[in-house]
Amino acid sequence: MSTFLVTGCGRGVGLALTKALLARGDRVIGSLRGGEAPLTHERFELVRFDVRDRAAILAAASSVRGPVDVLVNNAGIIGPRTPALAMDFDAFAETLDINVLGALRVVQAFLPHLREAPEAKVLTISSQLGSMAYPGSDRIAYRASKAALNKLMQGLALDLAADGIAVLTAHPGWVRTDMGGAGADIAPDESAAGLLALVDRLTLETTGRFLDWDGSPRPW
Ligand SMILES: NC(=O)c1ccc[n+]([C@@H]2O[C@H](COP(=O)([O-])OP(=O)(O)OC[C@H]3O[C@@H](n4cnc5c(N)ncnc54)[C@H](OP(=O)(O)O)[C@@H]3O)[C@@H](O)[C@H]2O)c1
Repeated sequence: MSTFLVTGCGRGVGLALTKALLARGDRVIGSLRGGEAPLTHERFELVRFDVRDRAAILAAASSVRGPVDVLVNNAGIIGPRTPALAMDFDAFAETLDINVLGALRVVQAFLPHLREAPEAKVLTISSQLGSMAYPGSDRIAYRASKAALNKLMQGLALDLAADGIAVLTAHPGWVRTDMGGAGADIAPDESAAGLLALVDRLTLETTGRFLDWDGSPRPW
């Protein structure tokens, strides 16, 4: 049984990951920023924080006991629809704050728990829209945030290797969630199963990669 921390466990891919992990016998510490717990289970523990709130994340981390084997940076927003030349700057800054800085705040706060685990891992849910090889200007704030997140995780993979912690950045597919919409390609369960298969195989030898949910490599 491994312990996973999943941010944004209340809906979408985060909820599907949480359910899949509990079904296979793992323990889940799930984060919510508001509302009711999505489920009750003897191996599920709820922590509360908004990924913009460093103090709340640190408080949550200090409330947790023991090692975290896998930290899953899942929480994210799609950000403003406004094109670059008519950018809503506050909304762009919020998108970066949540999608990029939020992931780093969570890694920093939970690092002591990762260091307690023998073969700790970080799985960060990014997006193909952040790939430099995938041009497009719609949702540019989101694209830019995921590109920055990718660079951050590529760097963290190098930094965390010293602690024996492996890092995987993954595109979850186009998933039928509130963010992906009803017309998306795959169900959250399918994405979650693919992502867990990837993180299960992740080692220090394969750290620092950007993969699709089905395991195919994604260009940065
Ligand atoms: N769906 C897709 O097709 C797709 C494609 C590529 C990448 N992704 C990525 O996959 C991840 C999950 O997406 P999803 O489709 O499941 O999205 P979703 O259904 O919109 O869910 C987003 C999750 O992030 C949480 N969240 C948002 N802002 C937060 C904040 N400030 N602090 C803490 N939690 C916050 C939400 O919590 P609340 O319930 O409190 O709002 C919710 O749990 C995201 O990183 C997204 O960018 C999704």
